[in-house]
Amino acid sequence: MNTMLLNTLVALAASTSLVTAAADACRSLPGDAAWPSVEDWNALNSSTGGRLIQGVPLAGICYGVQADSTACSELRSDWALVDPFLTQPVSVVSPYFENNTCTPYVTVATANDSSACQLGNMASYAINVSEYETATAGINFAREKNLRLVVKNTGHDYLGGSAGKGSLALWTHNMKNITLINNYKSEHYTGPAFKIGAGVQYEDLNPIAHDSGLRVVGGSCPTVGANGGWRQGGGHGPLSSTYGLGADNSLEFEVVTADGKHLTASPTENSDLYWALCGGGAGNYAVVISAVVKAHKDGQIAGSRLTINNEGNSYWTVVAEWMKHLLVLDKIPGFATEVLLTQQSFSLVVATLPGGDESTMSQALAPFYETVARLNITPVVNETKVQSTYLDHYDEYLGGVEFTRNITIGGRLIPRSLVQDSTLLQNLTQAFKDMVAEPDIVVYLLGYNVTNAAAAVPEGFNAVTPAWRDSLFLINVCIEGSADDPWPKMEDDLARANGWQDRLRGLTPGGGAYINEGTYDDPEWKADYFGGTYDRLRDVKAKYDPNFVLYTRPGVGCDEYAESADGHLCKA
Ligand SMILES: Cc1cc2nc3c(=O)[nH]c(=O)nc-3n(C[C@H](O)[C@H](O)[C@H](O)COP(=O)(O)OP(=O)(O)OC[C@H]3O[C@@H](n4cnc5c(N)ncnc54)[C@H](O)[C@@H]3O)c2cc1C
Ligand SMILES: *[C@@H]1O[C@H](CO)[C@@H](O)[C@H](O)[C@H]1NC(C)=O
Ligand SMILES: *[C@@H]1O[C@H](CO)[C@@H](O)[C@H](O)[C@H]1NC(C)=O
Ligand SMILES: *[C@@H]1O[C@H](CO)[C@@H](O)[C@H](O)[C@H]1NC(C)=O
Ligand SMILES: *[C@@H]1O[C@H](CO)[C@@H](O)[C@H](O)[C@H]1NC(C)=O
Ligand SMILES: *[C@@H]1O[C@H](CO)[C@@H](O)[C@H](O)[C@H]1NC(C)=O
Ligand SMILES: *[C@@H]1O[C@H](CO)[C@@H](O)[C@H](O)[C@H]1NC(C)=O
Ligand SMILES: *[C@@H]1O[C@H](CO)[C@@H](O)[C@H](O)[C@H]1NC(C)=O
Ligand SMILES: *[C@@H]1O[C@H](CO)[C@@H](O)[C@H](O)[C@H]1NC(C)=O
Ligand SMILES: *[C@@H]1O[C@H](CO)[C@@H](O)[C@H](O)[C@H]1NC(C)=O
Repeated sequence: MNTMLLNTLVALAASTSLVTAAADACRSLPGDAAWPSVEDWNALNSSTGGRLIQGVPLAGICYGVQADSTACSELRSDWALVDPFLTQPVSVVSPYFENNTCTPYVTVATANDSSACQLGNMASYAINVSEYETATAGINFAREKNLRLVVKNTGHDYLGGSAGKGSLALWTHNMKNITLINNYKSEHYTGPAFKIGAGVQYEDLNPIAHDSGLRVVGGSCPTVGANGGWRQGGGHGPLSSTYGLGADNSLEFEVVTADGKHLTASPTENSDLYWALCGGGAGNYAVVISAVVKAHKDGQIAGSRLTINNEGNSYWTVVAEWMKHLLVLDKIPGFATEVLLTQQSFSLVVATLPGGDESTMSQALAPFYETVARLNITPVVNETKVQSTYLDHYDEYLGGVEFTRNITIGGRLIPRSLVQDSTLLQNLTQAFKDMVAEPDIVVYLLGYNVTNAAAAVPEGFNAVTPAWRDSLFLINVCIEGSADDPWPKMEDDLARANGWQDRLRGLTPGGGAYINEGTYDDPEWKADYFGGTYDRLRDVKAKYDPNFVLYTRPGVGCDEYAESADGHLCKA
């Protein structure tokens, strides 16, 4: 063979392998040569017993020749609510990630053009997972075909973790099994527990626990998933000062790993994976099929609410005094609070005192009451109620809340040491003042004692970021938008949320934030969301999912991948 031809062939071979390598470094998208064929998808469908679903955006009913104008107009009126998205295989709650690629705000002319409704960041296909075997089939298919894989449970995630352009979604919503284990025994816990499927929500579990004379740590929102992002990312709620975070209440997990293995992760089996699944960020280490979670004896709970209107100069003194009083409440076992702060009012939405009655509740709040009275302020709401169970307490204070999705969220964990420093306390009060001066901002202050002592877990027992243990309260900065905000407005709101996070970080150097209620593009995400646990979590990721079959942002290691301008997820 002549050398010139040989050289050309060698060069050609090299360039071909380069092209292949480049393609392999990116997950495939529909339209790519490597995208699975119809036959491939059909084979996956058969192997899952017909559980494969083509991704369709929720507002797809508004488009095409089969558009349903009545259903579309109903959807339009509910578009700012969380509820319509929760039962969807691929559509997610976050407007930012949903990104108006298929909205119910359409004219008849565009409604007839079905190309005006696109999946955007939503998964291309979903598997309606029922048993671990169907999840395994999906994981193996995604790994072998080089597809992006996501887990979609309720779709609540503000950070878009349950969406992914061109992905295959494992849709866990229908995995609703709940089994009571009367006497769970392990080295670290003996007592009642529930085994719950990946799709269980608190509105499913709370009534069942109640009817068994038990209660579990759950979120403030009844539709948050009990086993997905909430638990794996931390998970706070009204009972967190009594029993710890959701992660602290997790006894073991049934999982499928990126290589398709069906495993148990507990303090004694695959303990590194167990450690990571308890607070190290969701959807990044393994797919959870079910979990066994602590249940606690139910009983009496005192609750209280208090609202003070902003009617003069003393308003911000009240806010600062509240934060100081949290240092007192912090020492009362089980005491938890949720405050909603706006330009107009300070509102203690719910105080929770398990085992309390009217007298212990009023004793706990008395020093704050006295401050308020001294400032000549009369609350517009001030009442205490004692309930005989957690569910009754929950229904009284949180049952009537309508959860909307038209917000952009940022936040920070506030350490006790900040409030103990009068200058920093003033700075923080000023930051609140500046936040709510913007008319579309409301702020939540969620007061919990989740020290290792209160949570009944030894230090370092799980991957909950250490900043949680030091924190007196969690701040949520919520920027309200409209359900039909255009992309530039959503982008701007996210930048504002990051700006407030930066300001709060400046007041809490070395502190942290809650991964489930922050921004996905926080520039300090490693320190803020993971703190000192990052390196060990990166090792767990390397061991159980070295090739990032699972990818979430801001999941540990996610900076080793990036989305290109055309939406391909590629190795960076
Ligand atoms: C209205 C509202 C109220 C909220 N209230 C609270 C609250 O009171 N307390 C609190 O702590 N948080 C609260 N959150 C935040 C909430 O905890 C997070 O949004 C959480 O990620 C939701 O988890 P999910 O599984 O329900 O949602 P999804 O969006 O479906 O999933 C969230 C993440 O978890 C992953 N995931 C889900 N299931 C699995 C699984 N089986 N295996 C592996 N990965 C999985 C997903 O891939 C995704 O990355 C609230 C959020 C909203 C929108
Ligand atoms: C999967 O199979 C079921 C029934 O066998 C069918 O109804 C469904 O449309 C198929 N899904 C896809 C995406 O083709
Ligand atoms: C949303 O859409 C705009 C174009 O309309 C695009 O520039 C932007 O990157 C998209 N953002 C997300 C998060 O999908
Ligand atoms: C939309 O499609 C319907 C059904 O095909 C047709 O009757 C109607 O005239 C179309 N409307 C427009 C604005 O094109
Ligand atoms: C998903 O599967 C469940 C049974 O596990 C079934 O009841 C439900 O109808 C299925 N949903 C869809 C959209 O296919
Ligand atoms: C859920 O419970 C049903 C009925 O007890 C059982 O048949 C099924 O196998 C369970 N599914 C899982 C995933 O545990
Ligand atoms: C709220 O009500 C309680 C009990 O009725 C009372 O003791 C307390 O002073 C009131 N607080 C304020 C700030 O008025
Ligand atoms: C937190 O709660 C525990 C357990 O009730 C208690 O011992 C401790 O004093 C509380 N506060 C702090 C700052 O640890
Ligand atoms: C957000 O949604 C809620 C519920 O639909 C609505 O009341 C509120 O006005 C919306 N906010 C804005 C700014 O549109
Ligand atoms: C807090 O405010 C004081 C007085 O305005 C200022 O000097 C100081 O730099 C601020 N501290 C921080 C950490 O922002």
